[in-house]
Amino acid sequence: MEIRIFDTQPQLNHAFTDWLKEIARNKDCVNIALSGGSTPKSLFDDWSMNHRDDIDWDRIRFFWGDERCVPPDNEQSNYRMTREHLFDKLSIPENHIFRIHGEDDPDAEAQHYAEVLRNELPIVAGVPVFDVVMLGMGDDGHTASIFPDQLSLWNSDQLCVVGTHPQSGQKRVSLTGKIINHARYVALLVTGENKAEKVVEIIENPQEAAKKYPAAQVQPESGNLVWFLDRTAAQKLTKQ
Ligand code: 6PG
Repeated sequence: MEIRIFDTQPQLNHAFTDWLKEIARNKDCVNIALSGGSTPKSLFDDWSMNHRDDIDWDRIRFFWGDERCVPPDNEQSNYRMTREHLFDKLSIPENHIFRIHGEDDPDAEAQHYAEVLRNELPIVAGVPVFDVVMLGMGDDGHTASIFPDQLSLWNSDQLCVVGTHPQSGQKRVSLTGKIINHARYVALLVTGENKAEKVVEIIENPQEAAKKYPAAQVQPESGNLVWFLDRTAAQKLTKQ
């Protein structure tokens, strides 16, 4: 596990982008699962404004780690957020975008998206492999849409499950640990002081944290895990 700490989100975005470019350098095609929520917005804006030409976007295929069970034009949709901040500005080809159908029945879509992953990704040891999985972390320690009160979903033998937001009750389709921890590279992008408590628990007491928080269960078999933190999210770490 590598921990990288940045004074500002633009510096974090720049470092993450360089990390991604390095992974993509010798690959004809990069399959990436995007995170949702608000953290990626400034990253996607940076990509669409400053990386139009130094990233070969035609070689990147976009999937998601999770999606809210809402229509794709709903303001809660991770797909809509990504379309607004990235796809529309870079005219990403439609056949490189594999959205989770939030408008469909959640259980049915969890099955459907698992099939999409099996059809679209290389399979290693019977499990589809992402080149990169990009994750966020909620202030409760959730990641993707696996929440602490549904921690068992992380270890499902399914590739995709239906999570339920503990406060709103909103259903979400989410990748599970089975596919997330099978990825070649995994990055957790975590900013904001409201994340600092869980960041220090997970990084400095991982065994205990893994019993409570899905984000602590992000332990890719490849060993290629990087935490990209801003200074506020990292403020409680004893070793900076
Ligand atoms: C989602 C995300 C979720 C997110 C965390 C952090 O659909 O909301 O995939 O896992 O990454 O909740 O969200 P923020 O970036 O908004 O803090």
